[in-house]
Amino acid sequence: MLTKASPIAIDMAAQIIKGGGLVAFPTETVYGIAADAFNAKAVQKLFKLKKRPLVDPLIVHVADFEQVEKVCKISKKAEKLMAKFWPGPLTLVLPKRRTVLDIVTAKNPKVAVRMPKNDIARNLIRAVGSPLVAPSANPFGYISPTNAQHVMDMFGNKLEMILDGGQCEYGLESTIIEFVDFKPVLLRAGAISVEEITEEIGRVIVPDKPPRKPKAPGQLPWHYAPKTKLKIMEPGVIKLEKNKRAGYMFFKMPKEFPYTEHVEVLSKLGILEEAATNLFSALHRLDAAPLDIIYAEAVPEEGLGRAIMDRLRKAQKNKNKVVKKRK
Ligand code: TXA
Ligand code: MG
Repeated sequence: MLTKASPIAIDMAAQIIKGGGLVAFPTETVYGIAADAFNAKAVQKLFKLKKRPLVDPLIVHVADFEQVEKVCKISKKAEKLMAKFWPGPLTLVLPKRRTVLDIVTAKNPKVAVRMPKNDIARNLIRAVGSPLVAPSANPFGYISPTNAQHVMDMFGNKLEMILDGGQCEYGLESTIIEFVDFKPVLLRAGAISVEEITEEIGRVIVPDKPPRKPKAPGQLPWHYAPKTKLKIMEPGVIKLEKNKRAGYMFFKMPKEFPYTEHVEVLSKLGILEEAATNLFSALHRLDAAPLDIIYAEAVPEEGLGRAIMDRLRKAQKNKNKVVKKRK
């Protein structure tokens, strides 16, 4: 059921979650599917619905600092980041408290925690009265949803409720920082740039290759992938397909381009923040069209451009490992 996220609907959603059910809801990054973080059965159901491997841990979403203390231990640098960026699109991986379920952290001694900025998200957590786990509301490996209709298209009535809160403000997942020996390491580029974090706490370690044993599927070489083959094109280098049905995703308005159908421009003036917000919607639209290939223009690798390029590279690496193109 897709419902406008009114206060009554949020209360109903909270009842469903308290009863062990699953609800999709908006955050400022992407839509998530919420389950009670302390209900192992509900969390199991969530893994199954997303077809997510159990080795892939979930982010615990909190509404206030009291709840943070209940799930993790806070270090000095973490505290600084929380003060600056929470509520907001930053996830911190910190030593977990014993009460956090093994299934949530995939037996990891650390837990990922985030306090969303979106009011509907925080009101939902408050209405449940307990932290919620919430992965993005997409089948494992597929493009994340940035509006309620995306969720509806991917899950339909398999979800007890979808709270509609319009378009997501950032349209890109939260940035994930882990502290390893108190040093900040980037696990997933996201809605807050590394530059902003560095300004707050100094150098952030940015691994240049995915680790052999990924800690976050954000770190798998493939993820966030459309069903259609995707190829990154260098800025200004346009391959016009004659024999294949091709779609084009430009970072900024091209000087001249002969086609108008299946053409997406992420930001007319080439503003990275705007491009990030539009990225997943554009990919959803192109992937819904009958295309053989999507060409995506590369963006500068700075600020949010790092997160955009990360998503594009992972989409390009997808060799139908996760999802099969429908005939
Ligand atoms: O913006 C977001 O973070 C969205 C919204 C819904 O809040 N959520 C989201 O969740 O992106 P998900 O499950 O799609 O991605 C969470 C990432 C995964 O790559 C997971 O491996 C990583 O966080 N993660 C979770 N717990 C972790 C942990 N204990 N250690 C390392 N990585 C962890
Ligand atoms: Mg995800």
